[in-house]
This record gives sequence, structure tokens and C-alpha cells, in this order.
Amino acid sequence: MIGLTDLKDIDAIELDQKYGAHHYNRLKTVIRKTKGAWLYTQDGTKILDCLAAYSAANTGHHHPKIVAAMIKALQEGMASVISNVIYTDVKSRFLEKLCTLLPQLGTRFGESGNVAMAKNGGVESVETSIKLMRYYGYKNKGIPDGKQEIITFSNNFHGRMITIISFSSAKKYKEGFGPLTPGFVEVPFGDLDAVEKAVTPNTCGILVEPMQGEGGMYVPPEGFMKGLREICDKYDLLLTADEIQVGMGRTGKDFAFQHENVIPDVVVLGKAISGGLVPLSVMVTNAYLMHMAFSPGSDGSTYGHYPLSMVAGNAALDVFKEEDLSEESARKGEYMKKQILDIASRSEHVKEVRGKGLFIGIEVNNGDAMFFCRQLLDMNMLANDSHGHTIRISPPLIIDDSEQQYILERLERVLAGKQQFVAK
Ligand SMILES: Cc1ncc(COP(=O)(O)O)c(C=O)c1O
Repeated sequence: MIGLTDLKDIDAIELDQKYGAHHYNRLKTVIRKTKGAWLYTQDGTKILDCLAAYSAANTGHHHPKIVAAMIKALQEGMASVISNVIYTDVKSRFLEKLCTLLPQLGTRFGESGNVAMAKNGGVESVETSIKLMRYYGYKNKGIPDGKQEIITFSNNFHGRMITIISFSSAKKYKEGFGPLTPGFVEVPFGDLDAVEKAVTPNTCGILVEPMQGEGGMYVPPEGFMKGLREICDKYDLLLTADEIQVGMGRTGKDFAFQHENVIPDVVVLGKAISGGLVPLSVMVTNAYLMHMAFSPGSDGSTYGHYPLSMVAGNAALDVFKEEDLSEESARKGEYMKKQILDIASRSEHVKEVRGKGLFIGIEVNNGDAMFFCRQLLDMNMLANDSHGHTIRISPPLIIDDSEQQYILERLERVLAGKQQFVAK
């Protein structure tokens, strides 16, 4: 028997249903252990994790190097939360590694390096970036406080707190949760003309996912990020790239904005940044911008620079570089996409295959990706839908050849095989 409690699966589900919020449609599977690309149930059944917690488990589950660093921190007394009014060496080490991993951001503001602020969940760092863009508009552009506008995109996903859902295109995310936060203007994703038309004297920034994960696994038209950069330079706006899902190697580059050699002013990272072992997110920007916007008291978070997160983040960044995960993602993704396109060519169910690196979406004709994901789970492979209509293929970047075959065999059976599933 595997697991940390004596709860049977049926009891674990019942207790969760009774005491937990019902804010996810959960598949009826209980996980007791995870390792590498695999999830284990109580009887030892192995399920291949083709979702990787929406890119949080890019380095695989329980990467030994990250786990060892965390155990050491716990054993040597450097894991407990420490008041933010003093320094820790582990924070300094992590910040230096992170800030020098990224290219110099916001180059028009000088080359004095990047500076980062850490939070917990990704949504917190997105909100921090909104504060930064608004303050820039107020302080540097003279926009009256309260009038700042930020351009966002249709189908965006940046998290679920009030300000963030305020500019979501999904009615479901915001209905009944008002009053919502004003100051956001939505334009179609990929439409540069619409972006330029939306700029007003009160616009202070653009918030974009360089590729949309939750919105349906969309890669924007070529030149989109470059065009956004040009608009930001022309109208003195800050360009913020939300790389929480598509950064850290997921799309075959360290960061998705690098597909177009564009340098944003602000980058937001989360999920994989701590190796999937503890919550951590960061906002990174040019030193000038960070110090212009934030002074003592203007921001903060109790667990924002939590030592155990700093240790995990530090080790995860080492693993990311040592194992060349961006290159691994590019190579494996190219192979997988080619094979999936081949399956699609023999399938009556597939509308489109898209993505880069190990960020691959398979849009299905019946618009119900979960219909296929449930069949995949029956074959011990975890995948889920993106935006209802697209099967998300985003396994840990460390998957090996046999694990890639495992995924492809199951996609073949579900989408093109003799074993026919009747789509709704
Ligand atoms: C692009 C993007 N931004 C922000 C978030 C929110 O991150 P979190 O759920 O850690 O708050 C997500 C989560 O899926 C995301 O994909």
C-alpha cells in the first residue's frame, strides 16, 4: 500500500467532497505518490502525468536534487519562515541566479540589471506587475491616479483573484463576484491593429501571455510579440509577459518571448520556478522600474521570500540549466508534434494541432476534450482540456523516449485507433 494516510480512496473522495470547496471538476482518482513523470495510486498503478500541474512540474515530480536541497534546509534549520525585515543568504542566492538567468529587461530604462520580487501563487505576481505598470503610468507619464489603463487580451488567463478576473473574457470567472476592478481594455489576441487602436493617453502597459495556455493552447501569429514591443516603445508603455505557464523551457526556449527575440519590460514567472515542490512566483523587471515603483511599505508578503521556497527555487534553476530543459523540450516537442500530426491525419476527431516545444494542444471537432481525456485516464494517462475544446499535452520536460511512446500510443488509440469512441 502506498500513501501517507490510512484513508481508502472512496473515503478520501468523500471527505474532500464534504469538507472541500467544489471549485474543480475532479476526476475520480486519488494520488498517493509522485515520481518523475508518474503519479501512483494506492494499489501501485502508475499514471503518466501529461499535464504536469499546468507546467508546475516541468522538472518532473520530486526531482532528487531539489528534494535533497529542501531536506538539507529542513535538517539544518533554514526552512522556517523568517520576518521580511531581515536578510537571508538563501534569498540573495536565488535572486542573483534568477535575475541573471533572464536577459536584461526593459533595456530602454538602462542596463543596471534585473531585480525580482517574490510572492507565492502566480496570480499574486501578476497583480504586482499591474501595480508596477499603473505606478509607471502615474509617476512617469503623468496619468492621473485612478485613470491608468492596461491592455489585455481575449481568452487571457492570469489567475482568479478579483483584479485579475476583472479583465477575464470568461463570464464564468466573474459573474456575481463584483464590484470588479476597472482600468482594463480587452482586444483580440494576436490583433496588433486592435492593440494600437486601444491605446489612449491613459494607457500605461500591455499584459500578455506570449502563448495562451488556459485560453486554448494558442501560439499568436508570427510577429505579434515584436509588434507589441514596437507599440510599447512608440507610446511609452510597459510590456509585461506572463510566462507563468509557458516560461522555464515549456515551449522549447527558456522563455516564450524569446521565440521572437523580443525583450519585455516585466516578466512574471511561477509554477515551475520552484520545481513544483513549494509555491513560489516572481515578478522580474529592470532595476530602474522596480525601484521607481516600490519602496518600503508599498508591497510585501509574509511568505514571499520563504527560505524553503528560495532553496527549492535555487535548486530548480540549477536543474533547469544543468539538464538543458529548454533544449530537451524543443527536441522532444518537435518529435511529439510530428507524431501527433500524423495521428491527426488519420483521425476524424482532430480539428487542429498547435503549439511549440512540449506545449502542444490538440483541438477536437466535438469541442469536448474531456471526453477524450477520460478515455486517456482509463489508459493510465492524465491529460485535461484547455478551454473545453483542446486536449493539453504538456508532460514534464524530463520525459524519456519510452514515456513519449506511452503518450503517443494512447493518443493513437483514442483519436485514430480501431478502438472507436463515439464522440458526443
Ligand atoms: C498564464 C498564467 N498566469 C497566471 C496563472 C495563475 O497562477 P496561480 O494559479 O499560481 O495563481 C496561471 C495559472 O494557470 C497561468 O497559466
